[in-house]
Amino acid sequence: MTLAELLPSIGCSTEPVLEEGVWPDGTEVVGQDLLIGGLPATQLAARFGTPCQVLDEQTVRTRARAFRAALPRAEVVFAGKSLPCPEVYRWMAQEGLSLDVSSAGELALARAAGFPASRIIMHGNVKTAEDLKAALEYGVSRIVVDSLDEIAQLGALATHGQEVMIRVTPGVDAHTHAKIATGVEDQKFGFSLASGAALEAVLRVVEQPSLRLVGLHCHIGSQVRHVASYEEAVRRMVGLIASCGTRIEQLDLGGGFCAPYLRGDSDFDLAGFAHRVTAALNYECALHRVPPPRLLIEPGRAIVANAGVTLYRVCAVKESARTFVAVDGGMSDNPRPALYGAKYAVRLVGRGGRPKPVTVVGRHCEAGDVLAEDVLLPGDVHAGDLLAVPATGAYHHALASNYNQVCRPPVVAVKDGVARPVVRRETEEDLLRRYV
Ligand code: LLP
Repeated sequence: MTLAELLPSIGCSTEPVLEEGVWPDGTEVVGQDLLIGGLPATQLAARFGTPCQVLDEQTVRTRARAFRAALPRAEVVFAGKSLPCPEVYRWMAQEGLSLDVSSAGELALARAAGFPASRIIMHGNVKTAEDLKAALEYGVSRIVVDSLDEIAQLGALATHGQEVMIRVTPGVDAHTHAKIATGVEDQKFGFSLASGAALEAVLRVVEQPSLRLVGLHCHIGSQVRHVASYEEAVRRMVGLIASCGTRIEQLDLGGGFCAPYLRGDSDFDLAGFAHRVTAALNYECALHRVPPPRLLIEPGRAIVANAGVTLYRVCAVKESARTFVAVDGGMSDNPRPALYGAKYAVRLVGRGGRPKPVTVVGRHCEAGDVLAEDVLLPGDVHAGDLLAVPATGAYHHALASNYNQVCRPPVVAVKDGVARPVVRRETEEDLLRRYV
């Protein structure tokens, strides 16, 4: 049976029903167009050009609120690396979230947004002296230390009671792609719990008069589907807290909450997470006779991924063993298929047609520059057609590059029928500015 024959059971990009949960809230098919944030995708493409990353502000805010509502006593920290943009950081500040940054650069964006230092946490397995100095100068509330070298360096740079957390590798397998699994042993992040390195880090921090240990941190990976992985992390981390010999006020479980990309992908069970993780925390703390620390979580993807839609223009169609549909973007705005084998849905906007399976490829000089394989588009797809790819709000703008000196696309925020760029399109002038 061919893919086209299977169509009624798997759905296709030209049918009126959108993949549930994958598109921004309220996205609608109207006629053959797609309304995002109340605006037709065809109009957005005409006004802002392509490729263009459309970001639905209300979806971002709604997801941020959902995390706060699910865990009202926890500190919800937006993972700034997932969508580095001052305007998005401002939305997060308004929604009462904290922010994590992993470099002086991300901190510079937070400063530009006027994000309160008292709600910023700095991360990173490597923080250069410049990163640490920028963090101390802005007065970020907590720095998550990741190596003994860093503890010594920060101890020397800090002057008075800088609050720190220690990043621990708890040895939890989050069953995700190897390149985004960070809780397992034998990797560059954190101090191993099993080897005793984490406990040694606790002692080293406590020895530093200029540092104050306030918490332990772990991040088991990204695109994590199972709440059980977090429960396991809680069990192990509370065990460590009990053996620290000093009061640990905060337990940061990191981010990693999965987001749906394709039809049938499930959303993260946030209510289940809130319930089961809180219960596990209370139970383990009672068992070990330690006061329950305040919980922190650091969602990135689950807040912004499904708020984003990328619009591309088809530039060429090539028939060979399969049909290649080449667009005006590619791995420079979305390296995730090449990096993680990520899969995306694609929809042709503006007209319908009898579907057939095609491979959507980018414009870059790499055979691996493939955006989506075996997706259904109208069989007569041709140059000039407009394609929309959902679930592109997280780690797209963040990972974008200038490969082939292609200018990076804008990020255009939409809300209530109003569109405004929050990142402008890169120009050749921007590119030339760095060359000497
Ligand atoms: N906290 C820490 C310490 C992290 O390292 C990360 C992500 C997060 C929170 C947020 O994780 P999220 O909730 O967004 O999964 N480029 C990859 C993802 C790398 C994640 C890096 N750390 C991708 O495109 O899938």
